[in-house]
Amino acid sequence: MTMERLPVAAGIGLRAPHVAEVLARRPAVPWFEVHSENYFADGGPVLATLDRIRADYPLALHGVGLSLGSTDPLDRGHLAKLKRLADRVAPAAISEHLCWSSIDGRHFNDLLPLPYIDDALDHVCARVAMVQDFLGREILVENVSSYYAFPEATIPECEFVAAVAARTGCRLLVDVNNIYVNACNHGIDPLAYLAALPRAAVAEIHLAGFDASGPVVIDTHGAPVAPEVWALYAMAIERFGKVPTLIEWDTDIPGFAVLEREAATAQAVLKARDAVAV
Ligand SMILES: [Fe+2]
Repeated sequence: MTMERLPVAAGIGLRAPHVAEVLARRPAVPWFEVHSENYFADGGPVLATLDRIRADYPLALHGVGLSLGSTDPLDRGHLAKLKRLADRVAPAAISEHLCWSSIDGRHFNDLLPLPYIDDALDHVCARVAMVQDFLGREILVENVSSYYAFPEATIPECEFVAAVAARTGCRLLVDVNNIYVNACNHGIDPLAYLAALPRAAVAEIHLAGFDASGPVVIDTHGAPVAPEVWALYAMAIERFGKVPTLIEWDTDIPGFAVLEREAATAQAVLKARDAVAV
């Protein structure tokens, strides 16, 4: 079966407050991304709504709860629900975070960073391979924002991310905002980060807003994309070429028109890349 690919255009993360408007207005958005876990129910109106969205738009499934990097056993029940959802909506991409969020069966609401060491790399690569085997397709893994760096780390984060793609054949969801946030919080060079990622593996980009009002930069997904992140995004597109790009907004969610404007800005960056390529 040939898998649909995400349109090389700027999509929007679809959140509950906007679903009714999208169904009523059918805006010209090239694709939507939804959080997989919100649709794990056996049936019901929420899933029926997703079917209606899917009838008109390409869809990406973005997971926030698989806990890929945890030392707990992979949750086969969670994976089975993800596969059932994927079989239902035939998503153009399935993504998860390169993080952990559970230990000893206790789950947290945070996407926690891994220690970037060889053992963790071996461990998470084995888990990515298991997930891909289970689903029968490649997944995308996303770099996370973080507020703590393990002093034991021996591998730069960007090289760790690149190695996961190289070893498992998974592709990368490059969150440019997360790179910027980590650059601020950990003194990473964001351009060196982009340069370390294998161009051919980059399948999607995320953009979102942060909060820099405190002592660390917090990845809130609750603000417009910052000028510094737009600048880094332009550099990412220059390096990777045109990549399907998503606007994420999860807290203080504004009207849908605000997200459409953010997506239009991303679309303009993609279009400008065409001009460069000619
Ligand atoms: Fe993201």
